[in-house]
Amino acid sequence: MTAQDFILKSYQTTVENGSVKWESPSNIALVKYWGKKEHQIPENPSISFTLSNCKTITEVTFTKKESEGFSFDVFFEGIKNEAFKPKIQTFFKRIENYVPFLKEYHFKIETSNTFPHSSGIASSASGMSAIALCLMSIEQILTNYSTLDAPDGFYNSTYFKQKASFLARLGSGSACRSVEGTLVVWGNNNTFEGSSDLYGVKYEEEVHSNFQNYQDTILLVDKGEKQVSSTVGHQLMYGHPFAKERFAQAHDNLAKLKTILASGDLEAFVKIVESEALTLHAMMMTSMPYFILMKPNTLEIINKIWAYRLKTDSKVCFTLDAGANVHVLYPENEKASILEFIKTELVSYCQNGHYICDQIGLGANQIEF
Ligand code: PMV
Repeated sequence: MTAQDFILKSYQTTVENGSVKWESPSNIALVKYWGKKEHQIPENPSISFTLSNCKTITEVTFTKKESEGFSFDVFFEGIKNEAFKPKIQTFFKRIENYVPFLKEYHFKIETSNTFPHSSGIASSASGMSAIALCLMSIEQILTNYSTLDAPDGFYNSTYFKQKASFLARLGSGSACRSVEGTLVVWGNNNTFEGSSDLYGVKYEEEVHSNFQNYQDTILLVDKGEKQVSSTVGHQLMYGHPFAKERFAQAHDNLAKLKTILASGDLEAFVKIVESEALTLHAMMMTSMPYFILMKPNTLEIINKIWAYRLKTDSKVCFTLDAGANVHVLYPENEKASILEFIKTELVSYCQNGHYICDQIGLGANQIEF
C-alpha cells in the first residue's frame, strides 16, 4: 500500500447526518519509536503491547453544512473543550486529502478517557486512534462499502484497519499501534514481512503462552504535563550524535524480540524491554538541548524492581514512556505476588499513591447505538 491508496475518491453526498462511536486503547512500546521524518514517518520500527483498560471513548456526530472550512466542537467528559481544538485542526489538515468529506460536515466530537486526564498518561494514542476509527466509520456510511470484497464486512477488512491506523498515525505516530492487538509492529523492517511506515500491522507470528494476558501496572510518579512534548522530543533526534546507532539498534532489538516472543524466554524479554526504555531516556539526556524526564521516584522504583528480581525468581520488568511514570510489566502467573510487591514497596513512590492496573488487550471496538 502507498499513501495514494488511502485517498477516498468518490462518496455519496446525500447523507445529511449520523453518529458513530468507538473505544480505542492506549499502547505501550517494547521497542520504542523515537525520531521521525516528515509526515509522521518513523525513523525506526517499533512494537507495542496494546492495552486493555486505558481507553478513550469517542462519539462523532456529523451534520451536513454549507459553510467552507473545517467546523467542529470538542467535548471532553461532557464539557466543551477549546484546548483540544488546535490539535484536531492540525490533524484534520493533515488527513483532509484522504477523507475529503471533512469540510462538508460539522462534527461534534464527544470524548472521554477511562483513566484520569491528569495522570501523566499520554492520551494521544488512544484519543487519535478513536477519532480515526470514527472517521473510517463515517467513510463507510458515505461510501456504502457493502460491496467491498471483505468476508467479514467492511469493519473487519484489511483496508478499514490499515486506513484507520494510517489516519491515526497522522494524528500521533504511536496512535497507529492502537487499532488492533495484542501486539502491533509499525515501521518498515526486514524482520516482519508486510511491515509499513504508513500504518501499524497486527503481529501474526507465534507468541508463547508466557505472554498471554501480560500485565502492565502503571505507576503514576508524576501526573503533571509532559516536560517535553513528543513533537519536540522526536525533533531532538535530528542531528543527534547517536541517532544512526540508535535506529540500527531498534531494528536489531525487533528481530531479537521476535525470537523471544516465540520461545517465551522471559529473561531475554526483560533485557530488551528495560534496555529500550533506558535507551529512550539516554537519547533525551544526550540530545541538545538535553532533558532528564525521570524523577527521583522513577529511579527508586527501578532499583526496587531490580532488587526484587535479585531476591526472587520474578520476571517483572519496567518500561518508560517519554516521562516519569513507570510501566511495570509481568506475566499473568505473577499477578498476585507483584501486586503485593507494588502495594508494599512501590506505592509510596507514586503521586498520591496512584497506580493503574492494566493488561494487554485486543484493540479498538466499535460501540453500537
Ligand atoms: O506518538 P508520539 O509522537 O507521542 O510518540 C510517542 C513516543 C514514545 O511513547 C516515547 C515511544 C513509543 O513508541 O510509543
